[in-house]
Amino acid sequence: METLIRRALPGDAAGIARIVTDAPWFPHDPEHSPHAGTPTIRETLDTRSDDATTILVAVERTSQELVGYATVHWHPYVMLGGWEGLVAELFVSAAARGNGIGTALLERVRAEAEEHGCVRLSLLNGRDSESYRSGFYRKRGWRERTEIANFVLGLERRPEMPGREREGGRR
Ligand SMILES: CC(C)(COP(=O)(O)OP(=O)(O)OC[C@H]1O[C@@H](n2cnc3c(N)ncnc32)[C@H](O)[C@@H]1OP(=O)(O)O)[C@@H](O)C(=O)NCCC(=O)NCCS
Repeated sequence: METLIRRALPGDAAGIARIVTDAPWFPHDPEHSPHAGTPTIRETLDTRSDDATTILVAVERTSQELVGYATVHWHPYVMLGGWEGLVAELFVSAAARGNGIGTALLERVRAEAEEHGCVRLSLLNGRDSESYRSGFYRKRGWRERTEIANFVLGLERRPEMPGREREGGRR
């Protein structure tokens, strides 16, 4: 399977939504995942395509089918004395897995992180996921931080998402 990796465009929303909602574990977070439909993904692509976030998609060259995506958030990390890239999502459609697409997306993320001048990349990986059990990230040089606990605080979604006028983007 020959794939092209490129920046996501607003027209990719339906393809990304299909990957998210086709996953057997959807909704991942029953309180919040129901929002992950095409309109909210399109809204995200419209409002978050700034310098603080990079959304990449993998597209099959012949069919132009969207077969994977990755989102990375770039933020300054004071204690590190530099920037960090947080790989928030990395998904490949079930039918396309095992063809090197996840690895290619991760390599492109790394190249972009180096361009951003980042000193580190990080991500969360469910311990009961296949990718964790098979050591997908470990095999690609990532180190697991077993000493860190992961906390989240769920928030109510506001009717309107903050847009470009928000401060804090990396310009
Ligand atoms: C993790 C994931 C992104 C990897 O994408 P991918 O395109 O399958 O990745 P690759 O083809 O580059 O590598 C997959 C590895 O699994 C092996 N593999 C072979 N067939 C496979 C299949 N049908 N499904 C999954 N993995 C397969 C590959 O040989 C490769 O092995 P390696 O790690 O020893 O090199 C993808 O499996 C996925 O979306 N999983 C569900 C969501 C997930 O766990 N995301 C990560 C959360 S942070």
